[in-house]
Amino acid sequence: MSTDALITELGHAQALLVALVEDADPATFRNQYHPDLSPLGWHLGHCVYTECLWLHEKLRGDDSVTSPIADLYTPPRTPKPERGKRLPPQPALLAWATELQAFNLHYLRNLRPQWQEHPLLEDDYLIHFLIQHNSQHYETMLMILNQKALHEHDTPDTPHQPLQASVLQPELADIPAGHYRVGGRKPVAYDNEVPPQQADLGPFSISRTPVSNTEYLAFMEDGGYRRQELWDEEGWRWQQAHGISSPDHWRQADNGDWYAVSMKGSYDLADREPVSGISHHEAQAFARWANARLPHEYQWEAACRIGLLEQTGRVWEWCANPFHAYEGFTPFPYDEYSLPWLDGRHFSLRGGSLHTRPAIKRPSFRNFFLADKRHIFAGLRLVY
Ligand code: AVJ
Ligand code: FE
Repeated sequence: MSTDALITELGHAQALLVALVEDADPATFRNQYHPDLSPLGWHLGHCVYTECLWLHEKLRGDDSVTSPIADLYTPPRTPKPERGKRLPPQPALLAWATELQAFNLHYLRNLRPQWQEHPLLEDDYLIHFLIQHNSQHYETMLMILNQKALHEHDTPDTPHQPLQASVLQPELADIPAGHYRVGGRKPVAYDNEVPPQQADLGPFSISRTPVSNTEYLAFMEDGGYRRQELWDEEGWRWQQAHGISSPDHWRQADNGDWYAVSMKGSYDLADREPVSGISHHEAQAFARWANARLPHEYQWEAACRIGLLEQTGRVWEWCANPFHAYEGFTPFPYDEYSLPWLDGRHFSLRGGSLHTRPAIKRPSFRNFFLADKRHIFAGLRLVY
């Protein structure tokens, strides 16, 4: 893509964030709806701050915009519960954000030759990075709106078409043993996707489609959440402690039928739609119930690159392995994007959800979350 087209793309990614904040009422703008999620308005501020951090502070040493707000918008410096009260009024934040966003686009379009030479701008690296950073926060903002809808959903609905359990009969793709290339390339890839690796994989079979709602209901109806032998110790303790017995976004009608709640309200769970809103613990228990495993992320990527995976990009797909550093990993463009999370406790997810922007949907993209997170749009696929 040409630099001009990329800058236009960045403008789109900015506008999506602004539209969500413009549409929010003042409470939605400022409230925290989930312990893991900041207020909606904070994300817009953080994204604009991040653009200015790279384009003005890092690139040309001007911190006049960033230094007064660095504490609020640098995640480790202000805990999530403090963020709402420290946000400016919604109209002020919106006016500030849109002005700086426009300035940043203008700045990129009229870069002085001396800044064009900067290593951070090689192959438009920084523009790719900012498009993707905004896009990732956009999906997180949709998670907030989903959590708000769930929070405010207090009287059970009745689905029009109740979900029925179905027998698990996955259609499998067989993948021969071999040396497969995994990983991405700069300037688009994040630091955790490079350098490309050679994965030496034994033969395996992978389901062509992610586990569907009806298949997941079969697990639930077969006592999946009550059978301790399906869970590892940590997962069992977690679901017992939190009383978890269905996906995060599912709700039950008075007659026992299941439906789901999204940011647009309640909706019928479609039979063949991939299940979403489950943690790594639940994904693992389902796989054990199915006498299968979760894919290693290299298996997922190899199968995806051969073109054998269907319905990718509808839910993030939990992988078996922890998020780890590739051989030759170097933090870039800053330590905190990947490094703190390479702790053996985060698990990799692949593919992307219906709420993921195209800018971050690619075979090599690695998402990562702790095993108990289920406010994300995540499901699973099986390997045999
Ligand atoms: C990779 C989705 C866990 O949202 O915390 C955004 C992405 N990193 N800004 C997150 C991220 C810095 C990150 N996740
Ligand atoms: Fe961020």
